Amino acid sequence: MVIFGGAGDLAWRKLLPALCMAHLHQRLPNDCRIIGVGRHNWTRDDYVAFVDKASRPHVGGDALDRDAWASFLARLDFVSLDATVAEGYQRLHASCRSGATKVFYLATAPSLFTDICRHLDQAQLIDADARVVLEKPLGHDLPSAQAINEAVARHFSEKQIYRIDHYLGKETVQNLMVLRFGNAIFEPLWRAPTIKSVQITVSETVGVGTRAGFYDHTGAMRDMVQNHLLQLLCIVAMEAPISLDPDDVRDEKLKVLRSLRKFELADVLRDTVRGQYTAGVVDGAQVKGYLDEADVPAGSQTETFVAIKAQVHNSRWAGVPFFLRTGKRMLKRQSEIIIEFSEPPFSIFAGEPSQSHPNRLIITLQPEESIQLQMMAKEPGSGMKMRPVFLNLDLQSAFTERRAEAYERLLIDVIKGRLTHFMRRDELEAAWRWADPILEGWQQLGERPKTYPAGSWGPAAASALVAREGAVWFEAQ
Ligand code: BG6
Repeated sequence: MVIFGGAGDLAWRKLLPALCMAHLHQRLPNDCRIIGVGRHNWTRDDYVAFVDKASRPHVGGDALDRDAWASFLARLDFVSLDATVAEGYQRLHASCRSGATKVFYLATAPSLFTDICRHLDQAQLIDADARVVLEKPLGHDLPSAQAINEAVARHFSEKQIYRIDHYLGKETVQNLMVLRFGNAIFEPLWRAPTIKSVQITVSETVGVGTRAGFYDHTGAMRDMVQNHLLQLLCIVAMEAPISLDPDDVRDEKLKVLRSLRKFELADVLRDTVRGQYTAGVVDGAQVKGYLDEADVPAGSQTETFVAIKAQVHNSRWAGVPFFLRTGKRMLKRQSEIIIEFSEPPFSIFAGEPSQSHPNRLIITLQPEESIQLQMMAKEPGSGMKMRPVFLNLDLQSAFTERRAEAYERLLIDVIKGRLTHFMRRDELEAAWRWADPILEGWQQLGERPKTYPAGSWGPAAASALVAREGAVWFEAQ
């Protein structure tokens, strides 16, 4: 496992801890070695010392078994090279055992992907068994994504390319496929008009932290919606694949992406909201506004919040709004999918002093995984007063097995050569084809993002967006 960007934020915060957990649970092949690659003029010992300091807190810190951690560190090596210069790749070659299956994880800026792939090829590091993992963001629009795909395809076949979206590695996201296709009760109801709307929210309490250099050029639409939220939408909306074969699953997701309504300028104006956080209170602490964060250029118009009404134009979903919402510095960290069912066509309880609520299937991805079905039940007592109650599928107590983090699961998939939970080239490009007109529309309209105080649910316009369809964001009730 060769990690380009081996000393970068993603490597020490996510990839190395994930590999360490896989190691601790005997999921890594015995002879698997991990080679960090970076520009630092480091020896192996320097890298081990760096990983020990940076990554250990993410896998249990001092509570971690010393011998287990030491045996993980023993797998590490480091090759110092400048990714744009051919010379270092010979040293990388010399560090790789001949005959070993090689996985190249490109956790670098995508602008380096072309050089890295070309040099790997020239140094004869790519054989038929080699794999490359591409970390997002893959491009900032369709042409740039196509350029990256073209460049990588010159050296790797599509079956060797793992485009990672870590949301596809989350347990509950994978479970959504089982919920939909492993149970008979939902499928007949899983369509218009039984389903009235779908909400997908990924709200975070964190701000941009130290990533403003990256984030200010990216924004919430490219960072979250074009990839994570669209992938969730695909799994909710897709038809049953004929098997779990990677291409069967990806064919179905592609059809959903191709069915998404294309945004014209008027749709962008009406059905999207961009926001940017101002100072406020999150989890009891006062926090800065986006414009006051380190490295954010004065007057930046980058959005830290997006709400969109998307639509899937096919016979299953015609007329059903898919409300997508994501933001930083929001009130709660919460990722959830709400399937809202239509209300009974006629109420015999109209005269009763109780409010009716639609049935909702609430699939929470984080912070705690859960699946709940909101149903109406009669309040005990005389009369026929109703109240919503929850049927609760308690996954935490139903399964005592360890739940691996998304990156751990996906890295094991790469090692085992399983592509199902990775994006195919046409899928990625279809996602950009949908996102680009929205991004262009925002540019054309030239409006500043609407402000929202840190610690809120986003700009008021996001509530108005769903209210026009007779809906409310689930938390807002
Ligand atoms: C990443 C984004 O892809 O996902 C980050 O770049 C975001 O900005 C993160 O914070 C959210 O992931 P998770 O797993 O914490 O919900």
